[in-house]
Amino acid sequence: MRIKPDYGVDAPGVMRTFFLLGFACLLFAAFAPHVLRIGSAKIETGSFFWPAGFLIGEGLLFLLYVKYGKFRHRDFMLGTHEWRGDERVLDVGCGRGLLLAGAAKQIAARRGAGDVTGIDIWSNTDMAANSAAATERNLELEGISRYCALVSKPAQEMPFDDATFDLVVSNLCLHNIYDRPTRRQAIEQIARVLKPGGTAILSDYKLTGEYAEQLRKMGFAVEKRRGSFITTFPPLTVVLARKPL
Ligand SMILES: C[S@@+](CC[C@H](N)C(=O)[O-])C[C@H]1O[C@@H](n2cnc3c(N)ncnc32)[C@H](O)[C@@H]1O
Repeated sequence: MRIKPDYGVDAPGVMRTFFLLGFACLLFAAFAPHVLRIGSAKIETGSFFWPAGFLIGEGLLFLLYVKYGKFRHRDFMLGTHEWRGDERVLDVGCGRGLLLAGAAKQIAARRGAGDVTGIDIWSNTDMAANSAAATERNLELEGISRYCALVSKPAQEMPFDDATFDLVVSNLCLHNIYDRPTRRQAIEQIARVLKPGGTAILSDYKLTGEYAEQLRKMGFAVEKRRGSFITTFPPLTVVLARKPL
């Protein structure tokens, strides 16, 4: 039997919480007495069907993204670039290698001399069972290891020379840097390691306005594209930013 690569569950705690709270509300609504009195307050337990439906619905949308939507979104992001095959690509917060493998496949399909580097801190809060070893395994299973390299470092401390990469891609990583100055530092690093004329393709569910504004101030030509409202959850926005020549 062929073993398939496993690109993991993003923010596993969030999905678990949606389902646990949703089913708790469902059980409460279905099995608690119809009316509960706490002091003078009267609670109609049937009204808990609403949050149950909402939370379980959110959990299912999350699952749809993890199992299907993220591959579609990866193709959407990588499809904004006209591939030649000789690109040097950096995936910031590569996790288990979703974009890394996608970019490497684009290069391999053109028998190009390009390469793809993934940089990550392998947080298990942001991605289930996250590790360099798990990513290496996925790259082997995809048959594209020879195009790829992994670096274990935070995005705000990139160890690459200025103007190394033609393309920098990143999905759902930068919002995980919680303080603004450090996030700004990560964007500065992305700008620094891009070659003049190179492109950053940065996707996230929030803070994309902040990334776009910072890059615009650095002289980049910036545009924004929306991912699918159904198959990306939370809905993702992509910032496309070209470094001036
Ligand atoms: C939700 S996962 C997304 C992984 C991958 N980009 C994808 O779309 O499947 C976020 C990733 O960002 C990484 N990450 C979080 N903060 C980081 C930082 N400061 N530097 C580098 N990677 C970081 C996490 O370890 C995790 O692998």
